[in-house]
Amino acid sequence: MEAISTYILSVLQKDGTIVDTRKLLLPGTSRNATSQEDQLAIQGSLNSLQSRDMIKYTTQETLMHELTPEGNDLADNGSHEARVWAAVPSKGQGEPLAPAALQGIIGAASAKVGQGRAMKNGWIGKEGAGFVKLVPQITDQAQIDLRQVRETGTHPKGEKELADLRKRKLAVQKKFLWFTVEKGPEFSISVEKLETDLTVEMLASGAWKDAKFKKYNFEAEGLPTSGGALHPLLKVREEFRNIFFEMGFAEMPTSTYVESAFWNFDALFVPQQHPAREMQDTFYVSDPVASMPPQPDYHAEVTKVHTVGGYGSSGYRAPWSDEETQKLVLRTHTTASSARALKQLADEYKQTGVFRPAKLFSIDRVFRNEAVDATHLAEFHQVEGVVADRGLTLGDLIGFMQTFFKKMGLEHLRFKPAYNPYTEPSLEIFAFHPQLHKWVEIGNSGMFRPEMLEPMGLPKDVRVHGWGLSLERPTMIRYGINNIRTLVGHKVPIDSVEKSAAVRF
Ligand code: PHE
Repeated sequence: MEAISTYILSVLQKDGTIVDTRKLLLPGTSRNATSQEDQLAIQGSLNSLQSRDMIKYTTQETLMHELTPEGNDLADNGSHEARVWAAVPSKGQGEPLAPAALQGIIGAASAKVGQGRAMKNGWIGKEGAGFVKLVPQITDQAQIDLRQVRETGTHPKGEKELADLRKRKLAVQKKFLWFTVEKGPEFSISVEKLETDLTVEMLASGAWKDAKFKKYNFEAEGLPTSGGALHPLLKVREEFRNIFFEMGFAEMPTSTYVESAFWNFDALFVPQQHPAREMQDTFYVSDPVASMPPQPDYHAEVTKVHTVGGYGSSGYRAPWSDEETQKLVLRTHTTASSARALKQLADEYKQTGVFRPAKLFSIDRVFRNEAVDATHLAEFHQVEGVVADRGLTLGDLIGFMQTFFKKMGLEHLRFKPAYNPYTEPSLEIFAFHPQLHKWVEIGNSGMFRPEMLEPMGLPKDVRVHGWGLSLERPTMIRYGINNIRTLVGHKVPIDSVEKSAAVRF
């Protein structure tokens, strides 16, 4: 930069103006500044000199031609017609070359374009079903012209030829910037170092009176600000939390990533033989080997409802193992935490004789031993809401979900009957996605079964409904992310989080 600036000033000193910066000899080389990169480097120096009023420059724009990869290939290795001519035998020397054989030698694309042109040039002729050379020597003018275009950006024979090269996709038109330069009011042949700051020392010594200051550049882009940034998942989590708070929900404690099978499954009336409990779906923890035993009286009630039934249910009447209940798992859903919260509500009722209705939610991590792919990881976040009150109905559940999802911008919901061991009825929730323009499954819900609620000790007329969804899915849809690994995990670049639009809006 510095060398270029000094050089530009010396040329101006000598000639008064620079009419065309493309004619400048690059300092330290014997080459003219013909490429666009050269010109942009020159422009950097011009900007800096102009900011000191040492020069004035105007930007000129020329349309230039640049060869495409195919154009470059022809310029390097010869035109298609020259390749055809080289491939065929001379007249009277060997078998005429059949079109199919020609294609085999120089490629179908080259043969197709080249044979017509070579015929037209009189280089080859038909003999029987094949081609022969008609002339002993050729001048590959097309190649010469292409090389010329590559060097000068234009065609020696003019615009018509250039249009033809563009049509054949051998060259493209590009804007090329160059500059005209003249002296400015502060012209001098050396670049003085300008002061950028007014310092205490300058003020004290009086040096400021003679100092030359650098002009402010109000056009300059500021440095990007740095600061903390919320990950998109946390951002959307915040949105969900606010919706829950607006609707009067309280947050449940969810710190138990490692949970006993008792709370994750048994308390939820999930049969001990349920396939979801198997190794393929659930991560079991081997150390420690067992959880603390559950509260004995509650454990007895849960055992009873599974094995022989009760509360109007006939139970599963399947083998039961206390050992199974004490296994430790990475919780497969936050409904384990909801169960703990509901049991607490029941205990409170037992102590005070007063049932307190509750609206509870949680958003936290759950784990499933699933095949990992672009949209699935072995862990994700679950958003879960639970409402407990006397006499709630399925209509209340549907109404609640409509209000809840509307606050997220999803107006049209559809429900489909589904199955959960712990809810009856159960509903899958679908929403019409206005951007994707289709119905997408967004969650799962249901009315908790008496087999789950009554062993806890909740009053008979208390109904609890709940719904759950993943946090990742709406986040991915919202921010157009289609691979979960760019959202979660060690491959997420930190700056993608800092620069994410989700951080700002
Ligand atoms: N636990 C369910 C799931 O993992 C979600 C759910 C919560 C369903 C509450 C019904 C009631 O998908």
